[in-house]
Amino acid sequence: MSFPLVRMRRLRKTEALRRLVAETVLTPDDLIYPMFVCPGDDVCQGIGSMPGVNRYSIDALVEECRKVADLGVPGVILFGIPEKKDALGTEGYSPKGIIPRAVRAVKKALPNLIVMCDVCLCEYTSHGHCGILEKGHVHNDATLELLARASVVYAQAGADVVAPSDMMDGRVLAIREGLEEAGLDDVILLSYAAKYASAFYGPFREAADSTPQEGDRRGYQMDPPNFREAMREVAMDVEEGADMLMVKPALPYLDVLSAVRQEFDLPLSAYQVSGEFAMIKAAGQQGWIDEQRVMMESLISIKRAGADFIFTYFAKEAAALVGGR
Ligand code: PBG
Repeated sequence: MSFPLVRMRRLRKTEALRRLVAETVLTPDDLIYPMFVCPGDDVCQGIGSMPGVNRYSIDALVEECRKVADLGVPGVILFGIPEKKDALGTEGYSPKGIIPRAVRAVKKALPNLIVMCDVCLCEYTSHGHCGILEKGHVHNDATLELLARASVVYAQAGADVVAPSDMMDGRVLAIREGLEEAGLDDVILLSYAAKYASAFYGPFREAADSTPQEGDRRGYQMDPPNFREAMREVAMDVEEGADMLMVKPALPYLDVLSAVRQEFDLPLSAYQVSGEFAMIKAAGQQGWIDEQRVMMESLISIKRAGADFIFTYFAKEAAALVGGR
């Protein structure tokens, strides 16, 4: 035999052929845009470590959401920056807090845009931890009640999805119970099921001003070396009534994402977090990588690994690119 029996390169010859045999396709429908809401009027304030991402006051947020929807992106997830923080994270579950007000405004202007709310206390607590502190320790069970309260308040404001990201044990059940008791039985619960204690959250913490004053989040978020533990976390949330799942961060945990995809049938998402975004932006700005291609390659790899949809700060740019709008 003097020639290769199989010539794989035949199917790679032209752009059209490559499109024809592409096994994974990214569309705007796969994307959720994370957004930061802050107090004030007409505010659009940049975030140093996240070029192109801003904090918006509610009026400006609505206008930005309109652009997101026009690009064909089906939904956003909102993070709140409160007027003031306190030890109990009160503004996180106050019906007059920044998030319920933002949800009402966005849903009124854009009823078809999916509005998700991150449920966690770290943006609202003065100490920056994701729950109530007792003797320097995050108290699991005391935090559950507040997470449930926040979820009910966001759902009553019109949120389609509540997404707990705190990693307390039992939060999915506590939130589900809270929603049912409030008669909110059709609100979707998306659990940040396998969320790692990651250094990739750095830029987010600048954006939300939520770096813990003391200590870190390793007592509740998962330890990066662990895989089987992620499967237990996910199984627990499924049992407690989660409707959708998330693995976070995305790129460093594609093995976990892929395994969760194989083991569980719930809709599955991945969060391409702030540090993943910042690295691509920074290297792109230096001219060290082709930013647009690396953006697409990373998003496609997350989808190929098993994500049905992706939380990404690139949502607008990627949607504009693949959606042709
Ligand atoms: C709240 C929360 C965080 C992120 C999403 N929800 C921060 C954290 O856990 O420290 C990070 C998102 C990102 O980095 O883009 N707990």
